[in-house]
Amino acid sequence: MSKQQDAVRIKKLRELISDYRYNYHVLDQSTMSEAAADSLKHELTQLEEKYPDLVTADSPSQRIAGKPLPQFKSVAHTSRMLSLNDVFNETEMRAWEKRIHKLASVDELEYFVDLKMDGFACSLWYEDGVLVRALTRGDGLVGEDITQNIRTLEAIPLRLRKTKPYEHLLNGRTEIRGEVLMYKEDFARLNEKRQAAGEPLFKNPRNTAAGTMRQLDSKLVAQRPMYFHGYDLLRQIGNEVATYSDAYEAMKRLGIRTNPVAEVVPDIDAVVEYADRWQDKRLELGFGTDGLVVKVNDRSVYSRLGVVGKAPRGAVALKYPAEEATTKIKDIIISVGRTGAATPVAVMEPVDVAGSTVQHASLHNQDEIERLDVRIGDTVIIHKAGDIIPKVTRVLSELRTGSEKKYDMVAELEAHELQFVQPPGEVIWRAVSRDNPAIIKRAIQHFASKQALDIDGLGEKNVDLLVDQGLVRDFADLYTLKASELEQLERFAELSSENLEAAIADKRRPPLARFLNGLGIRHVGVQTSIDIANTYQSLENLQKVATEKPEELYEIDGIGEVVARSIVQWFLDEQNTELLEKFRKLDVWPKPAKKADGPLQGKSFAITGTLSSMSRELAAEKIRAQGGTFQSSVGKGTDYLVHGAALGDGKRAKAEKFGTQLLDEKSFLKLIEA
Ligand code: IVH
Repeated sequence: MSKQQDAVRIKKLRELISDYRYNYHVLDQSTMSEAAADSLKHELTQLEEKYPDLVTADSPSQRIAGKPLPQFKSVAHTSRMLSLNDVFNETEMRAWEKRIHKLASVDELEYFVDLKMDGFACSLWYEDGVLVRALTRGDGLVGEDITQNIRTLEAIPLRLRKTKPYEHLLNGRTEIRGEVLMYKEDFARLNEKRQAAGEPLFKNPRNTAAGTMRQLDSKLVAQRPMYFHGYDLLRQIGNEVATYSDAYEAMKRLGIRTNPVAEVVPDIDAVVEYADRWQDKRLELGFGTDGLVVKVNDRSVYSRLGVVGKAPRGAVALKYPAEEATTKIKDIIISVGRTGAATPVAVMEPVDVAGSTVQHASLHNQDEIERLDVRIGDTVIIHKAGDIIPKVTRVLSELRTGSEKKYDMVAELEAHELQFVQPPGEVIWRAVSRDNPAIIKRAIQHFASKQALDIDGLGEKNVDLLVDQGLVRDFADLYTLKASELEQLERFAELSSENLEAAIADKRRPPLARFLNGLGIRHVGVQTSIDIANTYQSLENLQKVATEKPEELYEIDGIGEVVARSIVQWFLDEQNTELLEKFRKLDVWPKPAKKADGPLQGKSFAITGTLSSMSRELAAEKIRAQGGTFQSSVGKGTDYLVHGAALGDGKRAKAEKFGTQLLDEKSFLKLIEA
């Protein structure tokens, strides 16, 4: 074959390989198998070896890694690589919107929204369509030349594709900015390999991508699977690409991958809706994201808005709640599970992690406490991803003052009202006496006693008989007793059986204070029960405080640390929560201590979506404080459905079905502040 014929073949091979790359990396389509593409590349390399003068910078063969560099060259950016100002909620974002509307003196602005990728920022320079340089962000003004590394990434085209109507972008310089990403799956596989080889593991995809791109040896880079998603396209002549949506379309056509989830939206309401929609769904994407980037779509307005400090006015990053936070351990308590297993639970200063307030985290067992070396008073890192249970991952021992207290689980178990044993060879301690009939009898007598539920006919002897006969194992069982079965017992004549059934039924709605006293919570006697009942009014309120805001318990006069701890422990105990559930199912529930009165008396509320001004919990509290009731979802009899900016069609239909009135946040605020 003549050199001329070979040259034609070389050109065709390059086009075909580059088409394959484009389809695979940008369009997620496969035009041929990887093996077939490899074989084409092999042929191309051989031809290029034959004619070194035909090698070009954009040839797929040039992805091959070169010699390690002694150091990276510093190169000035064409224009500063800016960062973004962060906002953390809808209110702050609306404040941003207000400011820019005023500055731009326009009434309506379209926005371009994309997810904020957790990668390594990079700028690619294409001269007449050919990749000539790749720079890191550096300090924003000057970056490091990582061209050799970038060339090894299949996801980056060495030559931009010529497509209508963007041919002009192949003339002169086109700069593409974006993020180098390592996908979660590739990261996991890489770490698996490292583990098998006994090498230290990488911490997360972002750091791995960043560390890899800054390797002087491009051979190493070539071995690590990495991607590039563009987020900006710059030209020397401004306004050639009028909008950000157009820039994304251009990048995609030119062969650069962009996030397919990016969209143009008409207003901030739609941005909020987008944020809600992606909050959880983003966790299913292949790469890490930590928020949204919202930009004014019209680039002339965007540039007119200018820059303050290191950030453009026309764009903002809305950050999703972090999955990690630090807080302080206030206490460690013992929670007893259904099986009697004792679990140490950290009680922490409330902290927002991944969208909810966290105050408890299981420490599992003494071994875990020792492994973490966690002490009362320590500052710790809490990790919680999505709906996953919060976990103490690390103690910041650097922040210790010396006043932290070591936790001795064994001593705590010894001081506990129940007796525990640790079966040989196990780490778990279990209660021995939980279902001890003597304890049950004592508890039930107390429950039925004069100062508690005051149930006639449940003296010591009758209680003993009912427990011994296996008819009653807990307080709730009392409400299942039938006169017909009592009659079978020696001590009960027909009349007393009926009387007892009636006397018990009469106490289906006991006063809250009596009920609390009857539960036999350690350190909670008559007076404390009355104080608690007066303060919290309903058992639901108390349960909520005990499990979510235990520090509030101290606000009651006469409740100190010991009492508060005992109450919290009681409500965290699974067997007790199950008892309360059982009461509920049997329609036995203490009546509220005081009729809450207020303008919302008799009205019931449900909330959907996110409110910008307060948490759901706070909204519920405000509703209750004014006499209203709060329901977890819309059902028959719900008067109002309070909704955030985004109201799904499903919820709307449900509200309509139950005749529930819709209240947007503004109207809701008016109502509760009225
Ligand atoms: S637009 C002025 N879009 O986040 C910069 N940036 O904290 C405008 N980033 O510098 C950038 N995903 O490195 C944009 N979809 C996205 C992004 C994104 C990640 C990075 C980028 C930027 C930084 C700002």
